[in-house]
Amino acid sequence: MSKDQKFETQAIRTQIAPTHAQEHSTPMYLTSSFIYNDAEEMRAAFAGENDRHIYSRFSNPNFEELANKLCQMEGAEAGYVFATGMAAVFSTFAALANAGDHIISCRSVFGSTHTVFTKILPKWNIETTYVEVNSTADWKNAVQPNTKLFYLETPTNPGVDLVDLEFAGQFCKEHGLILIVDNCFATPYLQQPIRFGADLVIHSATKFIDGQGRVLGGITVGRKDLIEEIYAFSRSTGPALSPFNAWVLSKSLETLAVRMERHCENALALSEFLEAHPKVNWVKYPGLKSHPQFDIAQKQMNKGGALVAFGIQGGLENGRNFLNHLSLCSLTANLGDSRTIATHPSSTTHAKLTEEERLKVGITPELIRVSVGLEHIDDIISDIQQALEKA
Ligand SMILES: Cc1ncc(COP(=O)(O)O)c(C=O)c1O
Repeated sequence: MSKDQKFETQAIRTQIAPTHAQEHSTPMYLTSSFIYNDAEEMRAAFAGENDRHIYSRFSNPNFEELANKLCQMEGAEAGYVFATGMAAVFSTFAALANAGDHIISCRSVFGSTHTVFTKILPKWNIETTYVEVNSTADWKNAVQPNTKLFYLETPTNPGVDLVDLEFAGQFCKEHGLILIVDNCFATPYLQQPIRFGADLVIHSATKFIDGQGRVLGGITVGRKDLIEEIYAFSRSTGPALSPFNAWVLSKSLETLAVRMERHCENALALSEFLEAHPKVNWVKYPGLKSHPQFDIAQKQMNKGGALVAFGIQGGLENGRNFLNHLSLCSLTANLGDSRTIATHPSSTTHAKLTEEERLKVGITPELIRVSVGLEHIDDIISDIQQALEKA
């Protein structure tokens, strides 16, 4: 695989070697374990002296292809795949943080990641301090002698705020912190955090990497020394992806570029429509000039992505009416699907946060999040228009 090849070519042509059958498309390796010709070959596999697979709790050709492909796309040295995005998030923290270590995280994080920080890691005396996405000058006040990791998502979920990756990269370098970025909303097609100094990048592959709402998966890629620690933790604790899901996800990456182009085109058109609608108070989309951090979007993202947040007039009640009148768009927990999805975060994905916690990250009762899909834009707009009119 040539490093000079373009993103789309690498996404399609990064493949594991074919078997003796000389198949064109990588087969599925649905096997729990792998066999050896003799005792010496088996001993060497267990000793890590050859690159033979052992057991699908931690190694399988389909995992290898998926991890290699995402490493190419993110510009990473190594990677490890997981059963879900949350398995990737938790295993990464559990592998790298020791009892007594401290984490700094941007406050706007996915709901379950917030639960890991506030309810699970404290069991091992690993505490997290939140910092505000928009007050980077205050970040240094959060640094403690035992701070080890810095975590962020950009664009954030569901507020679609941005964190300045260049600033975060320099900040972490200056303070000797490991920078971990959840790049699930942008995907490597739109944004490559390692270019800005991230040490690790995490994905919920359930989102745009699959892109069709079929399977769950997670991936962490980045510095080889850190991935080795994550591997050692995960090999024994078992947050493993299934080979079937790895196969699906690797195939899906072949079309990531074309899918993201259309997601972004549709999302921009929908944002422009919403901005001009009298029943909409505000719209936040990184591809709109009105986004408060449009300059950051220009610096670190190729395009605005598929997620649009807006505030509907009339708050909670009208928001719920709006959702009830949608007929094409789906009401579902996922995002990053070929189907357009609308959600009301304060009563669903972020309901476990207190009202105060929600407001701190901009999740007002009026906020609607749309994950814009790949249907024809005229049909997406017409469904949203009729629901707005009835709300
Ligand atoms: C930004 C972000 N990170 C992580 C996750 C967790 O991923 P999974 O549902 O695959 O465990 C999600 C899921 O919605 C997410 O939106």
